[in-house]
Amino acid sequence: MVKVDINNGKKVLESETGMRLIDILASQNIFVPSACGSNGRCGLCKVKISSAAIISDADRKLLSESEISDGVRLACQVLVNADMSIEIPSEFLGAKDFESVVSSKKFLTHDIVELTLALKQPAGINFNAGQYITVKMPAHGEVKAAMRPFSIASSSTTTSLIQLNIRLNPQGTVTPWIFNELNEGTTLNFNGPRGNFYLRNTEKPLIFIAGGSGMAPVRSILQTMNAFNINRKTLYFFGALTQRDLFYLDEMASFEKTLPDFTFIPALSNEPSGSGWTGQTGLITEVVDRVCAFSLNGYEAYLCGKPAMVDGCIAVLEKKGIDKSNAFFDLFNSPKPAVK
Ligand SMILES: Cc1cc2nc3c(=O)[nH]c(=O)nc-3n(C[C@H](O)[C@H](O)[C@H](O)COP(=O)(O)OP(=O)(O)OC[C@H]3O[C@@H](n4cnc5c(N)ncnc54)[C@H](O)[C@@H]3O)c2cc1C
Ligand code: FES
Repeated sequence: MVKVDINNGKKVLESETGMRLIDILASQNIFVPSACGSNGRCGLCKVKISSAAIISDADRKLLSESEISDGVRLACQVLVNADMSIEIPSEFLGAKDFESVVSSKKFLTHDIVELTLALKQPAGINFNAGQYITVKMPAHGEVKAAMRPFSIASSSTTTSLIQLNIRLNPQGTVTPWIFNELNEGTTLNFNGPRGNFYLRNTEKPLIFIAGGSGMAPVRSILQTMNAFNINRKTLYFFGALTQRDLFYLDEMASFEKTLPDFTFIPALSNEPSGSGWTGQTGLITEVVDRVCAFSLNGYEAYLCGKPAMVDGCIAVLEKKGIDKSNAFFDLFNSPKPAVK
């Protein structure tokens, strides 16, 4: 047997020798982020290991040199053959298991569904708007059980149910199951909440930038701002390909009426000419650059979506004067190509 000490004795796990660290943690309901089926492709399952740990090919590919020299490793690549001490964000120890039932499944666009999950056990969840949960797909047929992260899309003031916005990844494992096999009335288990993408308690003006299902955590924050009457100047840039990829337009229009200083700016990068679209067009980076023809010094920015979009937008925001320490983001990683 081996021991894994977490956060200086906060928890000590025992396991048989030779198991993967990520599996030992999961067997005790401690779920580090993962979006690649624990296959060394997403780079999300980072833990800091105090004892010397072997550096895998995936570590070299997905971690920076300074992370590696600080002892950071990918938990899915670490085999625990001796006692080990690790550090993980303390929120991972506080996340709980939940049983829910799918009370509604609604298509928002051709490739995004809204799931409403009514909580059964425990009956309520406390979270910060913008955080995410890890959905557990059970094993079925030949398919093994799998877990994937999805952001909560509903207000943190409602604790008895949560909503998710899930985009189909046709070559993926869990999202095709959600689209094709998960029905209203079915039990769905998840673990959470976790993540540090939540509204900071300041009075700074805000910029939100999201694309596709990146709408989810931003909608959760906006609904919560609305519930608490938070009065901060807010611009929300939402990137999509065409009009058929837009959703929650009525809700965004209602926020423009109820939130004191909120502007929603949908931007389409692939809308055919002559379609009647009169809003912004172009890549979201170009649209942010064009619309923000003023200094963003003093603003706080929250970005959510694919890594390339987030990186491109952060570069534009910095050019406009936003301090990097005031830019927060959630990367909706899809796994990177498998490490050879
Ligand atoms: C914090 C966080 C919050 C998120 N929130 C949301 C959200 O609210 N809504 C949402 O829609 N998404 C969200 N995501 C993204 C979502 O978790 C991922 O897209 C997830 O991978 C989808 O699961 P899947 O099983 O369908 O796809 P996966 O099986 O994980 O596959 C994803 C992609 O990887 C490719 N792939 C698979 N295997 C290989 C391989 N061997 N080599 C190369 N490529 C491969 C597939 O082709 C597919 O395109 C979030 C991600 C994170 C990290
Ligand atoms: S879970 Fe380890 S790299 Fe994806």
